[in-house]
Amino acid sequence: MLSAPHIVILAAGRGTRMRSSKPKVLQPLLFRPMLHHVLDVAQALPHRSVSVVVGHGAEDVRESCRGYSVQFFTQERQLGTAHALRCAEPFLARQEGEVLVLSGDTPLLAESTLSGLLRAHAESGARATVATARVAEPAGYGRVIRRDGAVVDIREHADCSAQERLIDEINGGVYCFAIRPLLEALALIGNANRQGEYYLPDALRLIAAGGGTLASFQAADHSEFWGVNDFAALAEAEARLSRRVNKAFMLQGLRLEDPATTRIDPRCRFGRDVTIEAGCVLVASELEDGATVERLSRVVGSSVGPGARIRQGSCVEESSVGAGSWVGPYAHLRPGSVLGREVRVGNFVETKSASLGDGTKAAHLSYIGDAEIGRGVNVGCGFITCNYDGVAKRRTVIEDDVFIGSDSQTVAPVRVAAGSYIASGSTVTEDVPAQSLVISRGRQVTKPGYAKKYGERRGSPSRP
Ligand code: UD1
Ligand code: CA
Repeated sequence: MLSAPHIVILAAGRGTRMRSSKPKVLQPLLFRPMLHHVLDVAQALPHRSVSVVVGHGAEDVRESCRGYSVQFFTQERQLGTAHALRCAEPFLARQEGEVLVLSGDTPLLAESTLSGLLRAHAESGARATVATARVAEPAGYGRVIRRDGAVVDIREHADCSAQERLIDEINGGVYCFAIRPLLEALALIGNANRQGEYYLPDALRLIAAGGGTLASFQAADHSEFWGVNDFAALAEAEARLSRRVNKAFMLQGLRLEDPATTRIDPRCRFGRDVTIEAGCVLVASELEDGATVERLSRVVGSSVGPGARIRQGSCVEESSVGAGSWVGPYAHLRPGSVLGREVRVGNFVETKSASLGDGTKAAHLSYIGDAEIGRGVNVGCGFITCNYDGVAKRRTVIEDDVFIGSDSQTVAPVRVAAGSYIASGSTVTEDVPAQSLVISRGRQVTKPGYAKKYGERRGSPSRP
């Protein structure tokens, strides 16, 4: 058995084929930078160190790796994968044993596959083991050249002859090397090829030339080697990863109406009998027993209590929805919204930094921001907390059992004490003591017959 390897992740490339200002390895894949998926498997494997070679967008890549225990090496100019690995040479030269090389743009690799590769490497006693896969569309990948069944070389797509392009066994871009022969080979790699780059796969040929044996490891699931070089491949990677994640959740008892259109972050947690309808997005959230998320809703960084229902087309962000509450259709809970039990937040209601106590209802067309709403409050249609005076945000407090008539506003800071009644169309600017009635609107003036007379003066036909 080998001792744990050092792991180096190559992540300096520009990602030219994406034509994006963002470094390729930071492009989001199922809600997280692609590189994080690679770091997660690296950290799950036994290892002696994890290094990341950064270059293009180095500062952003380093910053995004906070929270991982990794060291960085900088590749100033992106001259190829062999050159990238050489950037870790000052460190590797002081190490013994093996190095496992991964790419920041091959994010679907499973830990079990990499353990298999490490095991195969140890068992064969080879100096270098390369992961390969047979794929239906090998274009773009390096092809595995074998002689008498044994790997002898890798040919990059750009350098392949027409005959070699027919080879459907590709280099997965994952290797385990014995460190000594690797470093000797790296020093010899040149860039006399179609792309003028220093190719890491050339190390295999050079190690063999130096008398070292090579081995290959074929993964059972070739889709794990899916490399992401452009946005078409990124979308495909996301579809594949999502299929894997959704399937795992379904096998744990989550009901997905249409897994193909639903994206779930693996960090989500689900209770029993949770249903997610088609076209939903769920990120870093927890949904308890019997919760339902209806079509086309988005739940991010939130908790949804037992039996709660997020109705169609709603957006729930960094909020919590209590047991049995209903949100939507078409509601927006912005960060800091806390709904108690059996709360109703209906269509076109927006909340932000607001708590709504048990049994409170805001069924239609409201804005509730920077507010504390008690229990059993009825929030009428079109109610608005005027929380912003153009300079500062101020809080509104509405105590238990208040009735707020439709089309009312409270101008913060203001407190409406328990049991009070705000008449429709009121603008509340002063605190209201408990059990009061507030009416603040112009008195109605009715002039009988006036409309008819006015109509005649304007020469328009008067209505009967
Ligand atoms: C590479 C392999 C190819 C293999 C494929 C698998 C080489 C020359 N070719 O091709 O045989 O089939 O991966 O996906 O290695 N990088 C750097 N610095 C550089 C260049 C690249 O850090 O100077 C990093 C990139 O950020 C990327 C990884 O190395 O994460 C692979 O580089 P990329 O240019 O994508 O190689 P491929 O053309 O995909
Ligand atoms: Ca690639």
